[in-house]
Amino acid sequence: MNRRLFLQYSGVALSGVFATAHAKKVAAKARAVKLTAGFTSTKIVGPDFPATDVWGFNGLIPGTPIRISRGQSLDVTVANALNVPTSVHWHGIRLPNAMDGVAGLTQAAIQPGELFRYQFTPPDSGTYWYHSHVNAHEQVGRGLYGPLIIEEAAPPMVDRDLIWMIDDWRLRDDAAIIEDFESGHDRSHAGRIGNVPTVNGRFRDIVKVRTGERIRLRLINASNARNFSLSFGDVTPTVIAIDGQAVRPFASDKPVIVGAAGRVDLILDMIGDPDSVAPVIDNFYRNSFDLAKFVYEKTPLRESVLETPIDLAPAEIPEPDLTGALEKEVTIAGGAMGGLRRAKLDGEWMGLREIARKGYVWALNDVVGNKLDMPPLIDVKRGTSIRLTIHNKTAFPHPMHLHGHHMKMFSINEQALPEPRWVDSPLVMPDQTVELAFVADNPGEWLFHCHALEHHAAGLGALVRIV
Ligand code: C2O
Ligand code: CU
Repeated sequence: MNRRLFLQYSGVALSGVFATAHAKKVAAKARAVKLTAGFTSTKIVGPDFPATDVWGFNGLIPGTPIRISRGQSLDVTVANALNVPTSVHWHGIRLPNAMDGVAGLTQAAIQPGELFRYQFTPPDSGTYWYHSHVNAHEQVGRGLYGPLIIEEAAPPMVDRDLIWMIDDWRLRDDAAIIEDFESGHDRSHAGRIGNVPTVNGRFRDIVKVRTGERIRLRLINASNARNFSLSFGDVTPTVIAIDGQAVRPFASDKPVIVGAAGRVDLILDMIGDPDSVAPVIDNFYRNSFDLAKFVYEKTPLRESVLETPIDLAPAEIPEPDLTGALEKEVTIAGGAMGGLRRAKLDGEWMGLREIARKGYVWALNDVVGNKLDMPPLIDVKRGTSIRLTIHNKTAFPHPMHLHGHHMKMFSINEQALPEPRWVDSPLVMPDQTVELAFVADNPGEWLFHCHALEHHAAGLGALVRIV
């Protein structure tokens, strides 16, 4: 019996009283973590290539995985060993505004040699991540990110709980990072799409599996801008969570889409033959490629796949009141082939050419989001339900991330979703209209921006103020 199964059964064996006392003790104790942002190097492409100089947390790509149980507090001290300012944002976590990690908005940037202490208790279980929020298009692109997992009280029984942080890197032939982080082409087109896709920092990773094994695969897309659409060969993945929140499990016969910054939790029942090889294939863009390979070991783990339940407890997020909701329409415009003629920059109408000369190419409701001290796009009292309709009038997909909240997505192109679902980084495709709703219940000033990080740097962002 492997450790994971053992933990499951031992949990069941605890008596009620003891289990409660135990849970309380666990909840009371904060998990102390130290994350040092610094320079390091790692073999991304493989043994035949030189190591790549990267920026990482604790010298690792991805950074140290943080795993706590729901109800447990986090106490993270971030040290900056870089020679530029940085900060850490906890992507997807509903936390107090002052802990959100957006330098220039919720805190001052952490200067080289300085520390910052983040303390909060994540309210929801699920799959999240952390990443730099200073010049994110460069700092995340250089590797400043890591996984953050909040475990359910009763997770489904699996043989292995695997995290795949998927990313892509833009590397030269000698495996060094191409440092064109300010590329105007990337800003106005699809963002920084790399040439070396990786799983947990490794190109063409090989993952050993056993026939009959049940794997929970936590996909976290840490790319600057690349979206993934993954298929697993003979294995039909069952989606159990999106952006950290439980969905009613469904077997996906189509490839699984993971937009930039998005997360998807899958259950994979490995049904391949012993000794066989099964590539994981991406086909989001024109050229498909092998992201990684499952290699089956000689001896099966079990004869037939597990039949135990895989449902996660439903999210406990306040339901927006759709009838009384404040309606807000947001139109994304700009970029190459976008047809945007003029927009407001610093409160002044300008032609796109003039805006582009200053480095910006996108607008939300005709306003270029070039700063963090702009008038908010949405300004409401705490507790207001907001119905947010996002129209993408551009030629590119945009993963639109709202900080500090989850939004319920209930329709795409006016087609109601059979099962509305919670999201924090919905991918809005060209010409799509997506309808979402949420309760603005977390006070503070929050970013709402495109997580194609070059798009955000080029003006695709706004503020939501809740008082
Ligand atoms: Cu993943 Cu503004 O962040
Ligand atoms: Cu975008």
